[in-house]
Amino acid sequence: MAGGGHRRSPKQARVIILIVRGTCGIGSGRCPATRKRIRDVFDLNQLEAATTIVRAAIPPTPQYAWPLLGKRIGAEVWVKHENHTPTGAFKLRGGLVYLDHVVQLGDAGRGLITATRGNHGQSIPCAAARHGVAVTVVVPNGNAVEKNAAMEAFGARLVVYGSDFDEAREEAERLGDAEGLAMVPSFDSLLVRGVATYALEFFNAVKDLDTVYVPIGMGSGVCGLITVRDLLGLETKIVGVVSTKAPAYALSYEAGHVVTTNSARTFADGVACRVPSPDALEIICGGAARIVQVSDDEVAEAMRVYHSDTHNMAEGAGAAPLAALMQERERMQGKRVGVILCGGNVDSAVYAAVLAGKTPSV
Ligand SMILES: Cc1ncc(COP(=O)(O)O)c(C=O)c1O
Repeated sequence: MAGGGHRRSPKQARVIILIVRGTCGIGSGRCPATRKRIRDVFDLNQLEAATTIVRAAIPPTPQYAWPLLGKRIGAEVWVKHENHTPTGAFKLRGGLVYLDHVVQLGDAGRGLITATRGNHGQSIPCAAARHGVAVTVVVPNGNAVEKNAAMEAFGARLVVYGSDFDEAREEAERLGDAEGLAMVPSFDSLLVRGVATYALEFFNAVKDLDTVYVPIGMGSGVCGLITVRDLLGLETKIVGVVSTKAPAYALSYEAGHVVTTNSARTFADGVACRVPSPDALEIICGGAARIVQVSDDEVAEAMRVYHSDTHNMAEGAGAAPLAALMQERERMQGKRVGVILCGGNVDSAVYAAVLAGKTPSV
């Protein structure tokens, strides 16, 4: 999945409450002194209800403090293994909660349609299949072959269109209108609520985390972590991670308003965002400690480190948090730190090239 705008239904728009705050909260981006912050995306009761929905399909994922990783960094490094879900990525949590609400409201209509680079596109058909709802997924040309195969295996009708995510998204909207299919956005409060269930698991399992690193594509993961951290009253710093080749969220965080880029050509396709969500940016500006940019070389190195130190396979976006931690190694000495290994869906050829010491080009 990667970035473009999104359409929020009137129902979902009501879920998000905007509160004007006087300061930037704990975020250090150059946000305006008086600005809005999205609060009450969900409360703890709603989060527990979301956990019940998620639990029907996903047991709690493990978190391990791998000793080799800790030794390498000089810190206690806890990995949250979101690569160990039925789709190999955290996104399924959001899909399950989204589908549950859509089906309960009778809004699935003639089926759903969405656009994706991959993990969102596995999440929605996997979740929809549990309710017998048909899903069409539009991907751009050149999308990961094995992610495409997995989407189809979960029952999606796959449509290949356009040169990047945004062109695929526009086609999904056109096709959805033409065929009467309901569009599933890439960022939505229900998706955040579902994804946030991993944050609750992580914070409950590992106490006193100093910092957690999480990648930002459209922002559901980082917004989930920030919101749960705040709901639990914790001091943990949340650090967002983007690619130097797709820095839209980092630029937006610094500017305090949405800044788009013309390209997002990173092999870490999960963070290939050009157009940030204003709603996600509100939460990130209010609650993220900083945003770190990592190069494709650093991401490839982090994938190799995951392999050698834990023997887990991480896709580019999944390894980006570790890449950021490796960049900030000195700053994190002796601390208890978390990294979200949020996906392991990388094509075999790409992974082979990375393990051979190369950085894939796009
Ligand atoms: C593996 C992986 N990491 C990170 C992201 C970015 O997630 P978000 O859109 O929640 O920021 C994605 C998005 O699809 C992903 O697949």
